[in-house]
Amino acid sequence: MKYSSQMVAKPYFIFALILLAGEIVFGLAMGVQYLYGDFLFPAIPFNVLRMVHTNLLIVLLLFGFMGATYFLIPEESERELWSPMLAKLTFWVFAAAGVATILGYLFVPYATLSASLANSFWPTMGREFLEQPTITKVGIVLVVLSYIFNTTMTVIKGRKTTISVILLTGLFGLAFFFLFAFYVPQNLAMDKFFWWFVVHLWVEGTWELILGALLAFVLIKTTGVDREHIDKWLYLIIAMTLISGLAGTGHHFFYIGTPGYWLWIGSIASAAEPIPFFLMILFAFNMAKNRRIVHDNKIALTWAKGTAVVGFLGAGVWGFFHTLAPVNYYTHGTQLTAAHGHLSFFGAYVMICFTLISYAMPILRGRPHGNGPKSQKVELTSFWMMVIGMIGLTLALTVAGIMQIEMQRLPDAANAMGFMETQAAISTVYMVRLAFGVMVFLGLLTYFYSFFVKEEKAVA
Ligand code: HEM
Ligand code: HEM
Ligand SMILES: [Fe+2]
Repeated sequence: MKYSSQMVAKPYFIFALILLAGEIVFGLAMGVQYLYGDFLFPAIPFNVLRMVHTNLLIVLLLFGFMGATYFLIPEESERELWSPMLAKLTFWVFAAAGVATILGYLFVPYATLSASLANSFWPTMGREFLEQPTITKVGIVLVVLSYIFNTTMTVIKGRKTTISVILLTGLFGLAFFFLFAFYVPQNLAMDKFFWWFVVHLWVEGTWELILGALLAFVLIKTTGVDREHIDKWLYLIIAMTLISGLAGTGHHFFYIGTPGYWLWIGSIASAAEPIPFFLMILFAFNMAKNRRIVHDNKIALTWAKGTAVVGFLGAGVWGFFHTLAPVNYYTHGTQLTAAHGHLSFFGAYVMICFTLISYAMPILRGRPHGNGPKSQKVELTSFWMMVIGMIGLTLALTVAGIMQIEMQRLPDAANAMGFMETQAAISTVYMVRLAFGVMVFLGLLTYFYSFFVKEEKAVA
């Protein structure tokens, strides 16, 4: 470790991994409820499991990004973090607020939670991914502001690199678009319209800048390729992200009560969205091919390449499936959407967190050359278990989606099956989904085990 303040990243990484385990357990519980509707009912109904599952995902990614930033920024800026104390403090504030919110979801009926936390005073609760009580949202804003302030001060006082500037731009964007979580118009079409300002402009805009910067950092470290080379790629990726992703928001404005021109804007702009994700694959594999050094931490580079590939599959390919308006007319809100949601979030954002953790954790644990070969082998096994598990889960949901569209969406009103009837007809496929979900969880446990593998002592 070059700077002692990088150490503040460690609790963020560990907590992100714990939350990931929680997220997957709740996903599995839902997978069981899809087959046995009474499972855990009435203690934890489906809507609560779903809310905990998706909220844990968002919070774990925020912890992952923060850990990654606190590790990366001192090294890029060639100076200690502006305030390690502030970073440590916000960790505890955020962790406590996060745990309290999840416990609230689990033990207090949502309506009671909303009433007792004065949601009517400034209503923000009840939208997917943004279910947090208003007070938690205010907490998130404060934590994120302190995080951005700390990072910006470090960058201002130190060396400025393309990576750190793009990362910071992404973080400012993340904070800015979250503010739309506080704006909930009464009109349902307007409500949806602005909801996507958070969700879409996060994952297909500002977070993509964060993703590009983090990927570039690990590639520099593990391949030793010149910065100028890396920077050119990064600019290209970021430019393509913004060109396609901003107007691409239009792919959520089909048939929801918005003007018809969105059909064209959304379809055309978002059809280009796979490009930056594809560039990330070229970027990662090119850097690996032209590498100047062979870093002992091989598994970190494997994660980096894996992020680019699975991110492209989940976001680029599965996103493209339903992004053209005439297709989306039939696929909207089906299991195909869930298939895409799973592989994109996992491939791009969960995996970039693994990439950073895989590179940084050994260093934070006093192993600058990465973990030993035995541990890396276990980690490689866990990599494949999780990747194959998530791809299997996605394929199962894709089959489920196609069946759903055939039975429920394509036939005319007289012949179309109802929603629940359709879901019952798909239940075998949901067993396959659950099986792959179990594989993902076992993969995560294997990953945890890789931290504790003892290496044989080298003979001196
Ligand atoms: C890593 C990047 C991405 C992530 C994390 C992501 C995630 C998601 C999620 C979770 C949803 C479902 C939201 C909901 O209704 O609850 C969604 C919807 C959608 N995504 Fe993505 N996405 C990404 C990139 C893309 C890309 C690049 C495209 C297009 C090429 C795309 C096209 C769509 C479309 C069209 C929908 C709406 C589906 C519907 O109408 O039901 N996404 N995305
Ligand atoms: C790191 C891995 C995972 C990620 C990133 C993830 C992400 C997501 C996302 C983004 C959604 C919302 C989808 C949408 O609105 O379209 C969701 C819902 C869901 N997830 Fe996951 N998930 C993961 C693992 C799992 C696992 C292992 C299972 C269980 C087998 C699972 C089961 C579910 C279920 C049943 C839903 C609700 C879908 C519905 O409303 O019908 N997830 N997950
Ligand atoms: Fe989108």
